[in-house]
Amino acid sequence: MQKALILNGPNLNLLGTRQPEVYGSTTLKMVEDLCLNHGKSIGLEVACFQSNHEGALIDAIHAAKGVQDGIVLNAGAYTHTSIALMDAIASVELPVVEVHLSNIHAREEFRHTSYIAHVAVGQICGFGAQGYVLALDALTAHLKDRVSE
Ligand code: DQA
Repeated sequence: MQKALILNGPNLNLLGTRQPEVYGSTTLKMVEDLCLNHGKSIGLEVACFQSNHEGALIDAIHAAKGVQDGIVLNAGAYTHTSIALMDAIASVELPVVEVHLSNIHAREEFRHTSYIAHVAVGQICGFGAQGYVLALDALTAHLKDRVSE
């Protein structure tokens, strides 16, 4: 069975109460349960991790090498700042699908830049918690394509 890591960055532990007008009322636990259940339904073993610390996220990406088949990453604000996270993804050579609850391109200018996008397979944003389900499907399709290539 293929495996995927759902990796969430800073402030996403506050989902549900954090700016619900932007991020919705779904909690991180609900997002993770949604991913675990969707994983089961498509035959993907899903693990979840969240941290507010850049180094811990980098460690989780390193640890995923050889263990996970891919990563669904919402790096939160580190998306727009972290060359270190971008380098970590490039270093492990695992497919990463970037996800954001909000449509970062329709928001402030500084959110339009994503360092993650440089090394991700693709980006899904603006669909709230459902974006994680779409990202798992996209990752699964990508992994299938790679096998049949
Ligand atoms: C976010 C968008 C980022 O700009 C923001 O810093 C977040 C959440 C999203 O899921 O919409 O923390 O990644």
